[in-house]
Formats: sequence, structure tokens, C-alpha cells
Amino acid sequence: MFIQYHGHSCIQISNNNNSIIIDPYITGNPVAISKLQDIKVQYILITHGHSDHTTDAVAIAKQNNASIIAVEELTTYFSKEGVDTELMHMGGQLDFIFGSVRMTHANHGSSIIDTNGQTVYGGSPVGFLITMDGITIYHAGDTGLFGDMKLLGKLFKIDVAFLPIGGRFTMNPEDALLAAEWLRAGYVVPIHYDTFLPIKQDGNAFVDSLLKKGIQGKAMTPGDIITIHPCSEEVRIC
Ligand code: NI
Ligand code: MN
Repeated sequence: MFIQYHGHSCIQISNNNNSIIIDPYITGNPVAISKLQDIKVQYILITHGHSDHTTDAVAIAKQNNASIIAVEELTTYFSKEGVDTELMHMGGQLDFIFGSVRMTHANHGSSIIDTNGQTVYGGSPVGFLITMDGITIYHAGDTGLFGDMKLLGKLFKIDVAFLPIGGRFTMNPEDALLAAEWLRAGYVVPIHYDTFLPIKQDGNAFVDSLLKKGIQGKAMTPGDIITIHPCSEEVRIC
């Protein structure tokens, strides 16, 4: 199983048979190096409607005949754009060919600007717990710190967590360090920072702070891939 970081909050999770992408934002992303036409996926998962999470959703859906997984307010919007959608909502869980998806709480907002420049209400922002090949991955979406991350850590064995650290719009590194502990995450990757000046942070310093707490992690740069080898007792990540 491989996870590729495309920059900002965009990650692509793949195994030999399937591939999914979360929060595609390559077009207009100043740090992205991936090419939109190279993205081959069956599903696109959207945490919320803001443009830095949705810019390429429709294009990727159309070029792959892929389906967009999101809350109702967003699936309604994307359906009108002529793409397939899978409607879910916060707290819900659904099985797909690639694995299962559970939508989790996120402390943020959600709206989408339509092609006429009008603001469309986006419903609740969410995070995702994705289980694929027996590995559980948490993508927090855009969120501030919230206490129920402790509950997620209690209910689920989170192997890899993608946590925003940019501050200003989401958790900052100090908050994300607490989140990593509460989630009891095995491996943590910081996201949603360094894309623009207002969210400048030191990803390596954040990973150092994780290591001091005994948590593994990596500050991925756009284009980086981590490989996950599921073993019987432990998850080995390189
Ligand atoms: Ni946002
Ligand atoms: Mn954002």
C-alpha cells in the first residue's frame, strides 16, 4: 500500500487494485508538482467545500469516471456538475471496493463558490477514517483541536494520521501534537501548511516534537510516497 502526498491536504492512497484521492488541489497549488492528468483513481473524498480542498475534484472525477464521496450539500453540488457521487454523512460508515470509509467530526466551516461566483452552503466539514488492506488512516480535514479525538483514539487503532498544522485556519503544531497523542496515532504526517505564507510552519520541527513523545512521523514534501507494509503485529512504514 502506498500513500502519495500531492501537497496541502491532498493525499492519494493506493494498493495494487485501487486508488483514492482526498481533497484534490493541484491546479493553482503553488507547491504541487503532480500532473492532474496522471491522477488515476476510482474515488475522490472531499472533507469540505473550500477551494483548497475541491479545486480539481470535478476534473479528476470526469477524467476517471470516478465518484465523489462527500456530505449531501456537496454531493448535490457535484451532481449538478455532472459527476457520480456517493452520499454519506458525519458519523456514518460505508464499505467500498477499496475498503471502508467513516466520516468523522471536524471543527471548521464549509462552503463552495460556484461557477457564477455565488457562495453555496457546503454542509458540515468532516474528516475521514479510511481502512484499506487492514490499515486505518485518519485524515482530519481542516479542523481545530477537539476533545473527541481522544474517543477516536479509543475506538480505532489509527495507523497513520494526517493532521493540519498550519495554524490560523486549523490546528497549529502544538495543537496537532496533542491531537497525535489523543488519537494514539502510530505515524503522523503534517498537512495544510507551507502552501501559502499565512500557514507557514516548520514540518520537521513538528516531527521532532512527535519523536520526543515516542510517535513516528514524516514531513512529506509534495510528490513524496510512503509505503506501508501490513505485518501481523505491526505496521512498518518506509
Ligand atoms: Ni477550509
Ligand atoms: Mn483549507
